[in-house]
Amino acid sequence: MPYNSRRPFSPVSFLPRCLHSPLFFSSQWVYVLELEACHLDQNLDTTTDYIDECKTDGLKLLRKAVGSRYIKIIPSTHRIQISDPNQIMAETPPSADNPTLFSPFKMGKFNLSHRVVLAPMTRCRALNSIPNQALVEYYRQRATAGGFLITEGTMISPTSAGFPHVPGIFNQEQVEAWKKVVDAVHEKGAVIFCQLWHVGRASHQVYQPNGVAPISSTSKPISKKWRILMPDGTHAQYPNPRPLATHEIPEVVEDYRLAAVNAIEAGFDGIEIHGAHGYLLDQFMKDGINNRTDEYGGSLANRCKFLLKVVKSIATAIGADKVGVRISPAIDHLDAMDSDPRSLGLEVIEGLNKLQVELGSKLTYIHVTQPRYTAYGQTEAGSHGSEEEVAELMKIWRRAFMGTFVCSGGYNRELGIEAVAKGDADLVAYGRLFISNPDLVLRLKVNAPLNRYVRASFYTHDPVVGYTDYPSLEKGNGNLERLSRM
Ligand SMILES: Cc1cc2nc3c(=O)[nH]c(=O)nc-3n(C[C@H](O)[C@H](O)[C@H](O)COP(=O)(O)O)c2cc1C
Repeated sequence: MPYNSRRPFSPVSFLPRCLHSPLFFSSQWVYVLELEACHLDQNLDTTTDYIDECKTDGLKLLRKAVGSRYIKIIPSTHRIQISDPNQIMAETPPSADNPTLFSPFKMGKFNLSHRVVLAPMTRCRALNSIPNQALVEYYRQRATAGGFLITEGTMISPTSAGFPHVPGIFNQEQVEAWKKVVDAVHEKGAVIFCQLWHVGRASHQVYQPNGVAPISSTSKPISKKWRILMPDGTHAQYPNPRPLATHEIPEVVEDYRLAAVNAIEAGFDGIEIHGAHGYLLDQFMKDGINNRTDEYGGSLANRCKFLLKVVKSIATAIGADKVGVRISPAIDHLDAMDSDPRSLGLEVIEGLNKLQVELGSKLTYIHVTQPRYTAYGQTEAGSHGSEEEVAELMKIWRRAFMGTFVCSGGYNRELGIEAVAKGDADLVAYGRLFISNPDLVLRLKVNAPLNRYVRASFYTHDPVVGYTDYPSLEKGNGNLERLSRM
């Protein structure tokens, strides 16, 4: 197979990218593979140094991906020959890739330069629900060229808040304010998605317009085991929610859709639907909460219907390729227990896979939280099994989803590196470590010490303290000692 390309070649930056594309895009994969082989061919002809470089950086990866028997270097010319791309596609699983946490990844149409993601985190700094200069600075600090950030949970409507000073994306003032955050992140070359959030029953009358009861799938309140953070910093019991009437659900779907449209107007590259952690959509999915008898209760399919309607409505409005979905089937945060997390996860994933086929376009990703995050082993029913069992569930869901898989929840440097290297995830979202390490990507890459996070300032409102004053490596570690003592 002769290759005559005369385009410049960088074995490190080009070749790994071609090997990340899953079988789903098999024809493109072959194309890119051929293209990269062109570069190899051209440059292998030039100097011995280059041949060595190609051999180490390029051929090694190519061999791993397609198998040595398909690749041959023609002696005397040093040309590379790939025997049969069709056979390669048939026989080479995508896991033959050799990615690392720090290697590039093509997430749909976004070319990411590494796989360390900022997890969505509520920080309560958007006074009166309007993103301000503090948010601009916070997200700017955490942006890297080719990095991927997910914003904190953002209110889709006036009824959706359950924390003080959470930003919204349902009116024009909020949209205009978000533009400054998005611009700052884009200036640094990062991709940013807005997380769309409705807390459902995880709210209180103080956060509701006219002091009404918060909405949910049920009239059961969150148990006394959990306490809600009030606007004055105290904690209170969660109140009784009002179950949504069947005819009201399409109205909430519409709130999600409008919020997504607003997010795109604000310049976001996409949105993430928060279907996790015991909030509204999860309150419908989990059989430990949802006790409805209408078409949104009972069977797995019925319980997942609300989420899937939201996904479809948003994907139709802004494009599936701008939509990520977060779920946490095995997490019991805010009493969100399910008797069969495995099947629940698979039901959602199969629904999303079908939707991708129906829409003729892939979603950007699925983001799954694993319960290492919530004090593992403290579930009341103890029904979630061992950490190994949950890790196995993550693998099952990862294999089932036809697209990019983002994992999060208790990942440190080693676990993140391992998750990507083993093919258990494409991207790893970091939460708490990113709070205290604005330059987390660099620190993980060079294996630098990490600042400790200060839990006490997670949800306070100071625009600087515990928010944008964590030191980066360049600024020196003067603050490290102070922070670690707090
Ligand atoms: C302060 C704080 C706020 C959070 N807020 C959100 C949120 O708004 N939306 C969300 O999906 N997850 C939220 N999470 C969960 C994180 O996205 C992440 O899954 C969790 O912190 C586990 O990852 P980690 O072990 O890397 O911290 C929050 C976590 C923390 C610590």
